[in-house]
Amino acid sequence: MLKSLFRVKPLEPAGHVDAGEPFEGSLDGEATLKRTLTAKHLTMLGVGAVIGAGIFVLTGQAAANHAGPAIMLSFVLAGFACALAGLCYAEFAALMPVSGSAYSYSYATLGEFVAWFIGWCLVLEYLFASSTVAVGWSGYLVSFLTTTLNLPFPMQLTQAPIDWNGTDFVSTGSLFNLPAILIVAAISGLCYVGITQSAFVNAIVVAIKVTVICLFVGFGLQYIDPANWTPFIPPNEGPGKFGFEGVTRAAAIVFFAYIGFDAVSTAAGEAKNPQRDMPIGILGSLAICTVIYIVVCAVLTGMTHYSLLGTAKPVATALEAYPKLSWLKMWVEIGAIAGLSSVILVMLMAQPRIFYSMSKDGLMPKLFGKVHPRFRTPYIGTIIVGVLAAILAGLMPLNVLGELVSMGTLLAFATVCIGVLVLRYTRPELPRPFRVPAAIIICPVGALACLYLFWQPFVEHWPIFVGWTVFGLLIYFSYGYRHSKLRQKA
Ligand code: ALA
Repeated sequence: MLKSLFRVKPLEPAGHVDAGEPFEGSLDGEATLKRTLTAKHLTMLGVGAVIGAGIFVLTGQAAANHAGPAIMLSFVLAGFACALAGLCYAEFAALMPVSGSAYSYSYATLGEFVAWFIGWCLVLEYLFASSTVAVGWSGYLVSFLTTTLNLPFPMQLTQAPIDWNGTDFVSTGSLFNLPAILIVAAISGLCYVGITQSAFVNAIVVAIKVTVICLFVGFGLQYIDPANWTPFIPPNEGPGKFGFEGVTRAAAIVFFAYIGFDAVSTAAGEAKNPQRDMPIGILGSLAICTVIYIVVCAVLTGMTHYSLLGTAKPVATALEAYPKLSWLKMWVEIGAIAGLSSVILVMLMAQPRIFYSMSKDGLMPKLFGKVHPRFRTPYIGTIIVGVLAAILAGLMPLNVLGELVSMGTLLAFATVCIGVLVLRYTRPELPRPFRVPAAIIICPVGALACLYLFWQPFVEHWPIFVGWTVFGLLIYFSYGYRHSKLRQKA
């Protein structure tokens, strides 16, 4: 049994893929995913998935409660771990241009059991992140409608019926979160119809949010008071509260802001020239977002003292102190609403594509592998994921989930870093269109950096994380293990 758990899926060098040519699953006469995405689309998808709740919501609390102005340093630390993981993703995505991302890479290097576990962690990343961000989107929208536009909105339809206050579930008096359900439904519909349409809408939304961020930076610069940056690292006040410890705790929190660049790799099956464009999409979007984050944090903490930023809308909060910039506050809210929509879009695109790959390997039911004959999208998986994400977003308290999303992602990143190194030794002959430089150093350091960030929230949330893992193992042993195509071939 141990042998079959750790059997790796044989990896053949991917042939060069040209525009429009199917790559996956074309031999059995089934419809395949459509190859239409260029390097520009892929970079936009990355930026679309990355810039969202992390910068528009979490930054303020991380600065106010953990890092102070050194939140910039926290972004550098989290960005460093992501850059190393991003290099490893780029090597894999160019070598294996398939939709399964970290799941497929683990299957080819560390065996079926690890692959399943990572696939399960990716559910935590993509499915739960889309619901979490949908709840953040709903918060911004309701505040925009009721406060900025003075329009009425029934409060019973703005929250999940229950909330988790850290020790108990408490009733919120609300019925369900209607805006969160509606945005998930609308975006799932878009994902159902097609990758080209999804990428087009994503590009528009990305343009809006990046413009708004540039306006914030451009107009905010003149109001920076350097006194707000001292002390840069406020003295430690207890576990995880300021000092260097606080900076690393904040790095684990704002890591959420970087999640999504890896989702680019799930579109590899739909890229025109994945060998060349995957590294550009992954590393390009990561570089753009890192620069944006550090600059935004510098302006944010320079305009307003960090202790005042602990709100759900820190960017809008920073503007409130400057009446001359009140016009910009409305645009920041519009930018956030647009920004969060594209995160939901890319996450909802990514999850069905992971299930698609798992289904092709027999580890998930066949219906997840069905491709729509006309739209060429994994349509049944898209519907199932959309329904699950809408239920979670509408009914569940999601405040703990943000950190669980980061934990699942960090484990996937660490595994990808290890996988690159393993494959360098087990299959050195494979042609690698992109190679991680100094892999012997970058890969282990990347894995350790991700595991270090994983450990920070794990200490608090281990019962939930372990529960999630056990649930996944039950599904694997009752379905995946028995239906695995690799095991049946052996
Ligand atoms: N990086 C994404 C966000 O910040 C998940 O919303």
